[in-house]
Parts: sequence; structure tokens; C-alpha cells
Amino acid sequence: MRFIQHKEEARWFYRVVSKGYDRWINPLFWTARMRDDALALAKLDDPRLEVVDVGAGTGFATEGIVRTVPPERVTMLDQSPHQLARARRKRSLEAVDKLLGDAEALPFATDSRDRYVSTGSVEYWPDPQRAVTEAYRVLRPGGRAVLAGPLRRTHPLARRLSDAWMLFPAEDEYEAWFTHAGFEGIERVHVAPPWWDERWDAYGIAIAGVKPRAGESPLQLAPPSIDERPVTAGRLARFAAGSLAGAAFIPIALWFTLRRKLGR
Ligand SMILES: C[S@@+](CC[C@H](N)C(=O)[O-])C[C@H]1O[C@@H](n2cnc3c(N)ncnc32)[C@H](O)[C@@H]1O
Repeated sequence: MRFIQHKEEARWFYRVVSKGYDRWINPLFWTARMRDDALALAKLDDPRLEVVDVGAGTGFATEGIVRTVPPERVTMLDQSPHQLARARRKRSLEAVDKLLGDAEALPFATDSRDRYVSTGSVEYWPDPQRAVTEAYRVLRPGGRAVLAGPLRRTHPLARRLSDAWMLFPAEDEYEAWFTHAGFEGIERVHVAPPWWDERWDAYGIAIAGVKPRAGESPLQLAPPSIDERPVTAGRLARFAAGSLAGAAFIPIALWFTLRRKLGR
């Protein structure tokens, strides 16, 4: 398990990161172009759709969703009150419902939504299969789920940093979560920011699937384990190390952005 791939650690992380998320993180790592390529898989082409955005954070993906779906029909869910507080400041998201909640235990009825979107949140989920199974449960038959996130790094240093930080799944793990949950018609697209060199490896993915029939997922999971670890010095040190590993990606991204701008 990575240092911040825990619910409580992710909450601590976003307490601080929410302050600069829109200004510093998204322009480098999760651009509007990437978001739009991911959202295209959701086929948000009907204003009657009901959409849930899970791990919605400050609402960057939600802003893309409300371009075609009325905000009253969209629900944002996130476990970080600090991230949702940022979303509350956005005019275009005023009419969107904003719920505190856990991606692995969604507070929505079975067969109650037409689209499930989750972008850039899977990295923090301790049990991604459970979250994807929840995505399946809450969708109506014919509903589509889209999950976007990073891919496992192949460069040894990048791999070490990313693995210390959070979950960077392999492409076949994304696919296995979807097929095991019962999704069909799997589609995918690779996404990357402009500074990324495609020769390195594939940066990130958006994967989509369709729920074929009503009801819960055919995958029956054991009840979730409860994280009752006390807050110890060792745990705080691991959290600090994981955060530093994550922060190291900022100068790396800035360096390659600069090189690209200088035409090197
Ligand atoms: C990188 S941000 C992505 C925000 C947004 N989806 C976007 O596209 O910019 C990751 C978000 O996932 C949330 N998150 C992490 N674990 C979660 C969980 N178990 N349940 C709900 N939200 C979670 C974090 O609080 C954070 O706001």
C-alpha cells in the first residue's frame, strides 16, 4: 500500500493541496484537454441525464459535465470538506449538489444514475475494485461509468517516487476492475499533459464501460475492512515522505514544460 493510498491520509493531503489545486496542480498534471478527452467517453449528450461525479474535488471535471448536463442533475461527491469548499466558490457549480462521502460506499440507491464519472481520484482509494463495483451498482441499466487516472510508471526513478506516493495502476488493472464488476463494452483513451513525451510511456487513462442489466454487481465482495490505525509518529513520517514524493513531480513537470517552451 502506498503512503497516501488511505482515506485519512488523502484527507490530510487535500487539507493543504486544496489551497493550490486549481492553480498549480491541474495546469501541470490534469489539463482541460485531458478532462475533455476523458469526458467524451461518458457520452454526456443528453440534458436529461443524471450524473454523479465521484472524488469530484474542486469541481474541475464537474465544470466539464455541466457544459451539457444541467447542474441540477449533477451530484458531486468527495471525502474532503476542503476540496468541496473550493467547489462551493464556483458560480457554474452553484446548483450542483455537493456531498461529503466515500467512493467505496456511495450514498445513492441502486439503479439511480445514468452516468458515473471519477477523474484523478482512484490513486487514493485503498480498494479500487470496491469503488468500481459501487459505480456499477448506482448506475441504471445502459448507464456508463468513466474512470480516469494515472498509469504505472516505467522509468525506475519515476516508478519509485510514484509508488511511494499513491496508486499508479497498470492498464490491465483498470480493465480487470471494470470487467470483474460486470461492465461491458469497455472503451479507453490515453491522456497526457502537453509536456509529456509519449515515447516515455502512457501517462494516464480514461476507461469506460456500460452496465448491461439492473441491480447490484455480480461481483460479491467481502465486507470492507475498517482502518483503525492510530496516528503514530511512524504514520505521520510515512505521510510526509509520500507527500514529498508527490511534490517532487511539480519541479519535474515545470522543467519539462520549460524545455518544451524553449523548443528543446
Ligand atoms: C486529484 S483530485 C481530483 C478532483 C477532480 N475529480 C478533478 O478532476 O480535478 C482527487 C480527489 O479525490 C478525493 N478522494 C480521495 N479518496 C476519496 C474517497 N475514498 N472518496 C471520495 N473522494 C476521495 C480527494 O479528496 C480529492 O478531492
